[in-house]
Amino acid sequence: MTTLYGIYGAGGCGRGILPVAERMLTVSGGPEYELVFIDDGSGSNNVNGHRVLSLDEFSDEADALSAVSLAVADPRVRQALAARCEQRGIAAFSVISPECVVMDEVQIGEGAVLSPFTTLTSNIRIGRHFHANLYSYVEHDCVVGDFVTLAPAAHCNGNVVIEDFAYLGSGCVIRQGTPGDPLVIGEGATIGMGAVVTKSVAAGTTVVGNPARPIEAR
Ligand SMILES: CC(C)(COP(=O)(O)OP(=O)(O)OC[C@H]1O[C@@H](n2cnc3c(N)ncnc32)[C@H](O)[C@@H]1OP(=O)(O)O)[C@@H](O)C(=O)NCCC(=O)NCCS
Repeated sequence: MTTLYGIYGAGGCGRGILPVAERMLTVSGGPEYELVFIDDGSGSNNVNGHRVLSLDEFSDEADALSAVSLAVADPRVRQALAARCEQRGIAAFSVISPECVVMDEVQIGEGAVLSPFTTLTSNIRIGRHFHANLYSYVEHDCVVGDFVTLAPAAHCNGNVVIEDFAYLGSGCVIRQGTPGDPLVIGEGATIGMGAVVTKSVAAGTTVVGNPARPIEAR
């Protein structure tokens, strides 16, 4: 019996995640499996040698062990895909690169993607469907909400709270908070690529630059 694992999204994000999932499953051993893309609008039935199924087709072929990893960087889109999977009773699985480093006392919710060369240091709590792309890190004593994305090389220092649906762009750096006074990246905030964030960022705000400022205030 072959267990089907789905990477939901055959775009750039998914094509970067599927090989990591393949390597993880190969290293960990376990039952026979097939990795497929799930994409409802791909227009192709094969991408990089893997079948592309609609969610309904995946659902029809799935067995009790089958699960999906959501491969879309946009936090709100990822939430919508999670809801579609939950409605069909399809479980989520985490893609954890054998090349990532997770230190002590890290709690992490379902459906995470930890790409190669990411690091989570110690005493960190992270919610559901977290994405940490290549070379990003989260330092000690951070609390991270649900559906948070760290783009490649996003660097989050210690004692920072990142609320749900925040997106940290490529190469940004977040200054550390203190134990009683964390720096807060508000719900749904977007941190532009390369931004140097020295203060808390209000919910729903996009900031850019060094020091980071709201994009409309440049
Ligand atoms: C910040 C960001 C979200 C803004 O996107 P947007 O709302 O579409 O904004 P625009 O591209 O229209 O840019 C608006 C202005 O801000 C400037 N700007 C955009 N991003 C910027 C950044 N990261 N730093 C400094 N200035 C930036 C643009 O040059 C433009 O300036 P102008 O008005 O003088 O021409 C986006 O540029 C960004 O940084 N996204 C993250 C990208 C990333 O990390 N991708 C990883 C893929 S794996």
